[in-house]
Amino acid sequence: MSILKIYTYPDDVLKERAEEVKDIDGSIKKLIDDMVETMHNASGIGLAANQVGVLKRIFICDISTKEKPFPLIVVINPELVYSDDKVESEEGCLSIPGCRMNIKRAKEVILKGYNQHGKQIEIGADGLLARAIQHEYDHLNGIVLFDKVSSLKREFHKKRYLKRINKGE
Ligand code: NI
Repeated sequence: MSILKIYTYPDDVLKERAEEVKDIDGSIKKLIDDMVETMHNASGIGLAANQVGVLKRIFICDISTKEKPFPLIVVINPELVYSDDKVESEEGCLSIPGCRMNIKRAKEVILKGYNQHGKQIEIGADGLLARAIQHEYDHLNGIVLFDKVSSLKREFHKKRYLKRINKGE
């Protein structure tokens, strides 16, 4: 396994729609292993393939902590089939380091897709996992946190973020 480069905003790869995976072969499995290692190394709770520069519809989530273990989630070609009323909560993103924004997301979701073994899966999630799933799902459609807030908030956060990365902080 190896740690991959995490692409950061405003890289174009984060703004593009990722393509469906047609065949879950060895290279896809290797990519997933590397994504898991990269996410853990960066202390993230989710990572989409776009974030490591690969435009394929794959994401992973791991909300487990030392105190509260939770299984790793790997989803290929995900499809959100249900989401309910929205709640607002603060979120960050490994591709927009140092920036946190309040984002409205559904409390509960149901997601369908395939795991790394090619098995069809259906996941019902709420709370933090539901939020992480929606965040990663957005990445696969080229949507980042800046796209989820009002234009006023977007300009404020974007300006502050770009200023900071341009200073190399
Ligand atoms: Ni993100």
